[in-house]
Amino acid sequence: MKAVLCKAFGPPESLVMEDVPAPEPRAGEVLVDVHACGLNFPDVLMIQGKYQSQPPFPFAPGGEIAGTVAALGEGVEGYAVGDRVFAGIGFGGFAEQVVVKARALKPVPDTMTLQQASGISTTYGTSYYALKQRADLKAGETLLVLGAAGGVGLAAVELGKAMGARVIAAASTAEKLEVARKAGADEVIDYSDGELKEKVKALTDGKGADVIYDPVGGELFDQCMRCVNWYGRVLVIGFAAGDIPKVPINLILLKSCQVVGVFYGAWSARCPDEAADNFREILELQQQGRIDPLVGAEYPLAEYAEALRCLMERRAIGKVVVNVR
Ligand SMILES: NC(=O)c1ccc[n+]([C@@H]2O[C@H](COP(=O)([O-])OP(=O)(O)OC[C@H]3O[C@@H](n4cnc5c(N)ncnc54)[C@H](OP(=O)(O)O)[C@@H]3O)[C@@H](O)[C@H]2O)c1
Repeated sequence: MKAVLCKAFGPPESLVMEDVPAPEPRAGEVLVDVHACGLNFPDVLMIQGKYQSQPPFPFAPGGEIAGTVAALGEGVEGYAVGDRVFAGIGFGGFAEQVVVKARALKPVPDTMTLQQASGISTTYGTSYYALKQRADLKAGETLLVLGAAGGVGLAAVELGKAMGARVIAAASTAEKLEVARKAGADEVIDYSDGELKEKVKALTDGKGADVIYDPVGGELFDQCMRCVNWYGRVLVIGFAAGDIPKVPINLILLKSCQVVGVFYGAWSARCPDEAADNFREILELQQQGRIDPLVGAEYPLAEYAEALRCLMERRAIGKVVVNVR
């Protein structure tokens, strides 16, 4: 089978496409024919050696997939060959087949394409955990989302709206803001001029946002700390801008606010039952038409480098998906 491999840390162009032996499912595992692989910023970090956990070389990048069941390992029940499934797998999605633990798989609902399903494990999983378990977002509260047309950001806009919040979407271009508005944002802010704090205050009667979802980091984070409301929660999601900001802890005191860490991968491994409950709710929202995961760009497997560059160069809107077959 074909696989795109990372054999040494480097840019997307340093990956290589090779023929490798197909994996075989052991007891409790399922062999999946990968149809689509949804990309996430962590894939970009992983191939460069900048992610918090690194698989041994050689590895295929690609943290989440959707496809069809090709074969069942011993003792697997509840799935049959040909079933449409999706899963978050950490890495390995840039390959025509992967082996996945049966308990990590989920069936793809009829209402969803394989491309959509390949891109929801990380984005909606992270954003729902962040808003529900970590921020305890309440209906009627104001939610500010940075990077609001990116993968996790757009999911946060849709989920925040579905949870009854007033959503302010912030992003760097008019095109991205239009996408966030279509996904349900009530208000939009263009921060391409570097200004965020005053624009948020202007939209919140000077109070600031109750919950701030920040996957961007960098210089905007300091402004988030200055436009969060009394008792607010600032969710630390990631650092797509590159720099890891410092927290001025006097502001935590002055606002009686919280800076809240979100590490979805670690939480879903520690609390698999709660994570599965969250996903049931996410899929219900999709079936009710209250969320509609956006695939913004699709690439064939041979164009893996261009697909990764789309994220690295800040061009991604919604999900970037690689069609593996
Ligand atoms: N905590 C967790 O459990 C968890 C889980 C998944 C992902 N993450 C993190 O969340 C962040 C976003 O991931 P994603 O997959 O949603 O990525 P994405 O689709 O590429 O979105 C990232 C957004 O960040 C903004 N951005 C600002 N400066 C950027 C730069 N120099 N390069 C690229 N983007 C830049 C862009 O929006 P604008 O152009 O509008 O600013 C972009 O839409 C990453 O840091 C990732 O590691 C965290």
